[in-house]
Amino acid sequence: MSKGKYIIFEGIVGTGKSTQSKQIYSYLEDKYPNKKFIWTFEPGGSEIADEIRRVVQATEYEEKMDPICEAYLYASSRAQTIRKIIKPNLEKGNIVIADRSFLTSIAYQGFARELGPELILKINESALDDCFPDLVLFLDLDIKPALQRTFDFDGDKFEKESVDFFKKALKGYKYASQLSKLKNKWVTINARGNIDEVYQRIIKVLNKRLEF
Ligand code: TMP
Repeated sequence: MSKGKYIIFEGIVGTGKSTQSKQIYSYLEDKYPNKKFIWTFEPGGSEIADEIRRVVQATEYEEKMDPICEAYLYASSRAQTIRKIIKPNLEKGNIVIADRSFLTSIAYQGFARELGPELILKINESALDDCFPDLVLFLDLDIKPALQRTFDFDGDKFEKESVDFFKKALKGYKYASQLSKLKNKWVTINARGNIDEVYQRIIKVLNKRLEF
């Protein structure tokens, strides 16, 4: 049984997940000096998962990556990160803050790439090893302003995808929010406004939800 807490940040590109999750990590570290906090991300977070990230995020291949291959690569990175970083920390009672998770696979591979959520859940079942979040913070922003926040793109192959791709991904997030495993664990955060405004909204939610 895990004793720690697993908090996931989710959202489409440009919603500020990475910035916010890192700021929240520092905030919680300061607020609870006796607790240990870990910040991690997907795909990546361990030596092997980082290598898989290089392959799955690469833009340099001439050959187009098959969506099934893509889904398995994200799941294999996840299998490694969960076993090397997330589970060992949860078992020690630590708090893991993660930038992305299997929920991105449901949205991007399941809906935007149209593989379907059932297949994504099946592919991810053994990767997840029953490691589900205690809290999902979904940063919600309209697609156009999100795509304009190009500072988040950083060589990501998804940057070239269309508005339609991200519309489908958002439908995927909506589906994911209804998963029975996430009942009462999903919080949608209004990600409009500046970094500090969004940060304050997240803090409000955490102060209500987290008790250590
Ligand atoms: P990021 O680390 O900058 O958020 O980039 C990760 C990219 O990978 C992002 O565009 C979403 C994509 N991705 C998937 O398509 N499926 C997944 O399961 C994960 C974790 C990420």
